[in-house]
Amino acid sequence: MTYTIAVAGATGAVGREMLQTLYERKFPVDKIYALASSKSPGRQVSFGDDQRIDVQTIENFDFSNVDFSFFSAGGSVSEKYAPLAGRSGALVIDNSSAFRMKENVPLIVPEVNHYDMKGCLSENGGMNIIANPNCSTAQLVMALSPLHREFNISRVVVSTYQAVSGAGKEAMDELFNQTKKVYVNDPLEKNVFTKEISFNVIPHIDIFMDDGFTKEEVKMRDETKKILDDNIEVVAHCVRVPVFVGHSEAVFIECQNPMDEDVARDVLSETEGVIIIDHRADEGYITPKEAAGEDGVYISRIRVDNSVPSGLVFWCVSDNLRKGAALNAVQIAELAISQGIR
Ligand code: A2P
Repeated sequence: MTYTIAVAGATGAVGREMLQTLYERKFPVDKIYALASSKSPGRQVSFGDDQRIDVQTIENFDFSNVDFSFFSAGGSVSEKYAPLAGRSGALVIDNSSAFRMKENVPLIVPEVNHYDMKGCLSENGGMNIIANPNCSTAQLVMALSPLHREFNISRVVVSTYQAVSGAGKEAMDELFNQTKKVYVNDPLEKNVFTKEISFNVIPHIDIFMDDGFTKEEVKMRDETKKILDDNIEVVAHCVRVPVFVGHSEAVFIECQNPMDEDVARDVLSETEGVIIIDHRADEGYITPKEAAGEDGVYISRIRVDNSVPSGLVFWCVSDNLRKGAALNAVQIAELAISQGIR
């Protein structure tokens, strides 16, 4: 069986990765449509090594023959077109935050909560939407899930070091151009980030909320609870760093069951999609540069935190465009096929 696919946001950082991931994983594609804004018709995007797809505008696109529709064109595009696509019969896998916290929209990381797919879908008013979590949340819950099963996590403190690609292709261009201009002493242009991102770090991702947290930090808290367990307390501090691809996180967990570092290593190493690189020596840990282009969620610097009764600290790195976005979305589609939803 093969499927008709639409990728909304196909010219963007995640959309291109989506096409690449579908191709690499040999997703059973019959026909594939690349959708973007009204400024992109006339452009083409690559699918695999030798196929070029014409880009169409999403406006007036007929979703009725589409089996899977991947959305990564921002929240407002998803809000407008995703329910339309879903009601036309496509299964929508939405990478924006628009539907993630809606009660009857499943929020899925296949390795963690594959069992949440079916039930909710039948109740979400025919919208046929499955939400893909925020990139920082996806890699976090991959690491937390086995540790929670073993140690019963009560609290998570997480500091992030997030790559600019999480803010899209213009953000990547801004880092590139600012970095170049610093060397030739040209004035720097700032359009995407609030402060210079080259040779700097910015403790601000997404908008500020009334309580002083940013929306990115709130998303990490709420999505982790929805995917994993509402009883886990989560506090996040999110920082943008001048890295093109690959989000890093320093994660501190407090648990109700006694901590055992060897057991923690064992349960993490047995988890599908999680890879431990932790040699306590020069080069014995992962950096985002090495995780870029890879599918795994990498864990390094695992150690017991003796400042609390049962604590563990670790470093977690993953390619934000892959497990944080495109790969997870394609895995959801594969899960939908294997569960008979499509
Ligand atoms: P376009 O290239 O035509 O602007 P990124 O996250 O890398 O910034 O990419 C955003 C993606 O979302 C791009 O593919 C962009 O297309 C698409 N997009 C942005 N605004 C719209 C819109 N109003 N309708 C459809 N697609 C949009």
